[in-house]
Amino acid sequence: MHSDNDTPVQTRVQGRVGWITLHRPRQLNALNDAVMDALGAALKAFDADDAIGAIAITGSAKAFAAGADIDAMADWSYMDVVQRDFITRNWETIRQVRKPVLAAVAGYAMGGGCELALACDIVVAAESARFALPEIKLAMLPGAGGTQRLPRAIGKAKAMDMCLSARMLDAQEADRYGLVSRVVPDAELLERTQALAAQIADYSLPALMAVKASVNRAWEGSLTEGIAFERQALYARFASVDAHEGMHAFLEKRPPGFTHR
Ligand code: CAA
Repeated sequence: MHSDNDTPVQTRVQGRVGWITLHRPRQLNALNDAVMDALGAALKAFDADDAIGAIAITGSAKAFAAGADIDAMADWSYMDVVQRDFITRNWETIRQVRKPVLAAVAGYAMGGGCELALACDIVVAAESARFALPEIKLAMLPGAGGTQRLPRAIGKAKAMDMCLSARMLDAQEADRYGLVSRVVPDAELLERTQALAAQIADYSLPALMAVKASVNRAWEGSLTEGIAFERQALYARFASVDAHEGMHAFLEKRPPGFTHR
């Protein structure tokens, strides 16, 4: 296990799981460029590390993240955001990660914090988790994918309600609507996310990447295009030693010994 406390994110490795903890406690992990750059660098490093099979992002007990940094943005002009390539500059990194990314969310996931959770592949929510896109209160809009990912996740009616009224969802509502994957007691959030991430990291990595890319096709594109993509991904599984091993292990009633982890 190693750690790095010099950046606004802390990283550690537990088994085959790479953990990234957002660490700007006094600002409730508000996502400024320094946090997003560090998060992007940590994601890239874990994605490139053969010893890592899954990545988990978390915050503090009070806040996963309270959104983009309002203090930093308050006086930006139109030209400021264009020139600094706001959002594109560092939020796109998470889309480039090919390994599974889990969010372990306790407390506030507001604005960009909610959008960060939506950009992860699996969201494990503690009972204390609260999700909102309150940008309308600032006369802003959710600009890190929120207006696009939220309706895909929970449907137009609920997404419009959240975006237009700033409605905050508790963990049970978020679970019911499909914004999160699972809800767990706060005291078990990290342990349960670790167990889930470790389970996933134990599967064949090329298969995980193919599944993730295929599900994202369904999320991002048309059904026709997605089905065609999925078909090719399925055919490619038959070129994989792990897929043959997995199927034979099932038939032989034994655990699989995957080559590519
Ligand atoms: N940016 C900058 N600072 C923030 C912040 C943010 N998004 N959220 C909280 N903080 C700071 C507060 O200013 C405060 O700092 P000081 O102690 O120096 O005053 C500190 O964090 C603690 O916050 P609060 O005192 O407000 O804590 P609370 O428990 O009373 O309330 C909260 C918690 C409900 C999350 C509240 O902080 C809040 O509403 N935060 C803003 C949420 C928000 O509007 N997010 C959307 C941002 S815009 C965005 O994300 C755009 C985009 O898509 C790109």
